[in-house]
Formats: sequence, C-alpha cells, structure tokens
Amino acid sequence: MDRVKDKIIVITGAASGLGLADATVLTREGAHVIMTDIDPEAGQTHANNLDATFIQQDVSEEASWQHLMAEVETRFGRLDGLVNNAGIAPIANIENTSTEIWRRVLSIHLDATFWGCQSAIKLMKHNGGGSIVNMSSTAALIGLGPYLAYSAAKGGIRSMTKSIAIHCRMEGLGIRCNSVHPGSISTPMVHTALKTLMGTDLMAEEDPEATRIAMGIGEPEDVANMVLYLLSDESKHVTGAEMVVDNGDTVI
Ligand SMILES: NC(=O)c1ccc[n+]([C@@H]2O[C@H](COP(=O)([O-])OP(=O)(O)OC[C@H]3O[C@@H](n4cnc5c(N)ncnc54)[C@H](O)[C@@H]3O)[C@@H](O)[C@H]2O)c1
Repeated sequence: MDRVKDKIIVITGAASGLGLADATVLTREGAHVIMTDIDPEAGQTHANNLDATFIQQDVSEEASWQHLMAEVETRFGRLDGLVNNAGIAPIANIENTSTEIWRRVLSIHLDATFWGCQSAIKLMKHNGGGSIVNMSSTAALIGLGPYLAYSAAKGGIRSMTKSIAIHCRMEGLGIRCNSVHPGSISTPMVHTALKTLMGTDLMAEEDPEATRIAMGIGEPEDVANMVLYLLSDESKHVTGAEMVVDNGDTVI
C-alpha cells in the first residue's frame, strides 16, 4: 500500500484498457491521478469512480499539452509522474498504409510523447524531479507486419525515451524516463485486432478468461504493476530502460 502516496500523476488515454488499469492501481497505491482522454464520457465516469481528476485531451494537439500542464500546476502545484499511454493501432502494412494513417499514428504516438515529455519536464523541474513512463510495445523490438506505422512509432518512442533519460541524468534534473513494452494484453485494442486478424471474438467466447490464458494474452494489471514500479521511488536507479511485459513472447 501507499507505494506512490500523494504523488501527482497524469495518465493519457486513461478511459480504457491499460490507461484505466494504471489509474486504478496508482489510485489504490495513494497517488492522485489526472486521467486524460479524447473520450469525455468514459473518462469522466471512470475518474468519478476512482476519485481521480479527468481532463479531456486530444494528445495529438500541441496546444492541449500547454492547457493540461497549466491546469495541473494551478490545481496541484506540481507534477511527479506522467504516463504517455494514449494510442491507436490501425491495421495497415507497408503496401496499404495511406499517408493519412501514417501521419495520424505518428502524431498520436510520437508527437504526443514528445510534447508530453517536454511539457512535463518543464513542470517537474520545479519540484526537483519526477518519473516519466512512455508506453511503447514489443512492436518496437520486433516490428509487426500488419502494423507498419504503429511499429515505426513505437520504435521511435523507445529511442526517444533513452535520449530523454540521458539528457535528464546529465543535467542533474532528477527526472527518470523509461519505456514499457507490452506484448498482447486483453484490452479493446487487442480484442479488435484478434477479431480482424484471427476471427476470434475473445469476449464472445464461452469462457473468455480460459481462452485468454490459452492464447497467452496478459491482463491490463500485468502492465499497470510495471508502471506502478517505475513511478514509485523503488525504481530510483532505473532510467533509460525498456521494460518488456510479454510473458517471453520476444524471447521464443
Ligand atoms: N493492449 C495491448 O496489448 C498493447 C500492447 C502494446 C502496447 N500497447 C499500448 O498501450 C496503450 C494503451 O492501449 P490499450 O490497449 O489500452 O488501448 P485502448 O484502445 O483500450 O485504449 C486507448 C485509449 O486511448 C485513447 N485515445 C486514442 N486516441 C487519443 C487521442 N488522440 N488523445 C487522447 N486519447 C486518445 C482512447 O480513447 C482510449 O481510451 C497504447 O499506446 C498501445 O499502443 C497496448
């Protein structure tokens, strides 16, 4: 209990899946969480249930970051953690990815993570440090054929994270920056992928839990527990690291 007690933490894309699991675990461990999402209804409902704060945000809009950080500073006076989690995963390979899809995916993942890190560091510097977690994917490590833009964006997030970590260390900012690389985790994003690519409707299975386990798909809390560790002071010697949460998928 209280592993992140009284920390002020922003999570993007927190109305669903991994972001929502992060918010649930971090709140339970004593943080005050600011949940942001493009979906105001789900975001506000979940924030009310968790006694968290909700702020609507489209992470691919640069101005949304200035607005968000100004709100955080005014309401809470500081920022201890940021999880750059919001994402989309359109299925499109090198032959059928349009320029529009390419730009949209890079904007939501890569531009947003850049703006998020830059604006968070500005605020975290005031209170002598903080921890940033960038949600990447095993797609950054192996490349996924049906996900061209997504693989490129997640690879960019991986190396951007290391650049930020080293800068913060060299400047003595007390800010750590790490990336998390989940394999397949049971969220709406993966349920859509399973239906489209494999014809499997996980949630319509007679026993979805047994099927999930049989297919080697993880639970959102498996990732949230890693995020919790990286935002807590337990990981004070960990920066620039790529934390893989994939049950060994990239090893075998
Ligand atoms: N589920 C997995 O297996 C898996 C694996 C590796 C990486 N990831 C990454 O984890 C993150 C969360 O994925 P998830 O599986 O929970 O997906 P999800 O679809 O359940 O949730 C994504 C959330 O992001 C929000 N969002 C989308 N576009 C946005 C925007 N422009 N601005 C703000 N919010 C926006 C959505 O409204 C949604 O609430 C993503 O970055 C994804 O790439 C997921």
